[in-house]
Amino acid sequence: MQTIIVTGGAGYIGSHTIIELLKQTDYNVVSVDNFSNSTVKTFDRIEAITGKRVKNFNVDISNFETLEFAVNAIKNPIGIIHFAAFKSVPQSVADPLLYYHNNLGSLINILKICKAKQIPNFIFSSSCSVYGNVDKLPVTEQTPFSAAESPYAQTKQMGEDIVFNFTKSDPAFKSVLLRYFNPVGAHVSALNGELSNSKPDNLVPYITLTAAGLLPKLTVFGGDYDTRDGSCIRDYVHVSDIADAHVKAMNYLIAGKQKKECSVFNLGTGNGVSVLEAIHSFEKVSGEKLNYEIGPRRAGDVINIYANNDFAKRELQWEPKYNLDDMMLSSWKWQLQLKNNY
Ligand code: NAD
Ligand code: WQD
Repeated sequence: MQTIIVTGGAGYIGSHTIIELLKQTDYNVVSVDNFSNSTVKTFDRIEAITGKRVKNFNVDISNFETLEFAVNAIKNPIGIIHFAAFKSVPQSVADPLLYYHNNLGSLINILKICKAKQIPNFIFSSSCSVYGNVDKLPVTEQTPFSAAESPYAQTKQMGEDIVFNFTKSDPAFKSVLLRYFNPVGAHVSALNGELSNSKPDNLVPYITLTAAGLLPKLTVFGGDYDTRDGSCIRDYVHVSDIADAHVKAMNYLIAGKQKKECSVFNLGTGNGVSVLEAIHSFEKVSGEKLNYEIGPRRAGDVINIYANNDFAKRELQWEPKYNLDDMMLSSWKWQLQLKNNY
């Protein structure tokens, strides 16, 4: 049986992608994750949902020797989905070397493994943060990058170049770069969702933690932007839809449908949603009144960004299934599950 290697498989998007791979394909799935931002319990949750136990190699991908040792034990690898990276924007500003080392060092190591083991198909987790502040909306894959707003975003811009140049250098390899907009939500079963080892920086976990009484108050970062209600606009997309896009992209690569060496796809719903609209959706579906106030702007925030997702729809036949209310309700059910069980 052929194997898909998922790096960062214990993390938020990696675990949801493993669930979809197990549900939708017959591939063997193996994870490589050192639990730097997750725990081994993720694999219990995946098992509870899918009935399957996924093997994980607990190694640091930024260390080539240990990575090589692990991958040597994996039979018939046909593709790699590379999620493993650090993802906190403020942490990357405070400690840029940590981000360059892990996000770029791990990427280079995994591509060396691709080459050494002749693993032909590669998918890279990129981010809408590569675009920075843009002049024209919605953002297409051809929208030029602005200067990166953080070392984190820079690792994604550089990461894309590294993957592109690697696949261009050798016709034995093909790659896909997936630019996620704002992945949120949890598995529909409420048995798996986002759970970082440190306090999250992102809006939706902040909303659910506040509503659960684990954080005192949510501050809306800025209410005086030039948007329809004064708060910033983003393209929130359900994590299971993001996961589904990975399955479709891997099938597309393996089926030989991609003619170019490297393709890039925006993964967003195409809908811009303001912070206040997200809060109101949460209040509606949860029945909870959220304690929030409008506060000062957050430094470096993009004001308004959402995706043109036509290319993913056309080429991958990807169609996001979940709407904003689904995203908020599943996040809330996951938060309640966490409160009860952890
Ligand atoms: P996550 O932190 O939940 O998952 C990443 C996983 O990788 C964690 O389980 C962590 O333990 C593991 N990991 C990190 N460095 C490692 C290393 N050196 N060796 C082995 N394992 C390592 O993050 P996520 O939200 O699932 O994000 C996955 C990918 O998607 C990342 O590359 C991230 O930059 C990208 N991305 C995330 C978002 C988002 O909002 N969540 C948006 C755009 C892009
Ligand atoms: C969303 C909106 C905030 C928290 C980040 C990364 C990006 C990508 C996705 C990985 C913004 C507002 C937030 C709060 C708030 N990740 N907000 N109060 O900034 O779009 O993107 O995650 O690639 O690279 O930068 O996401 O969830 O932090 O913020 O008002 O307590 O919510 O101002 O408008 P962001 P976010």
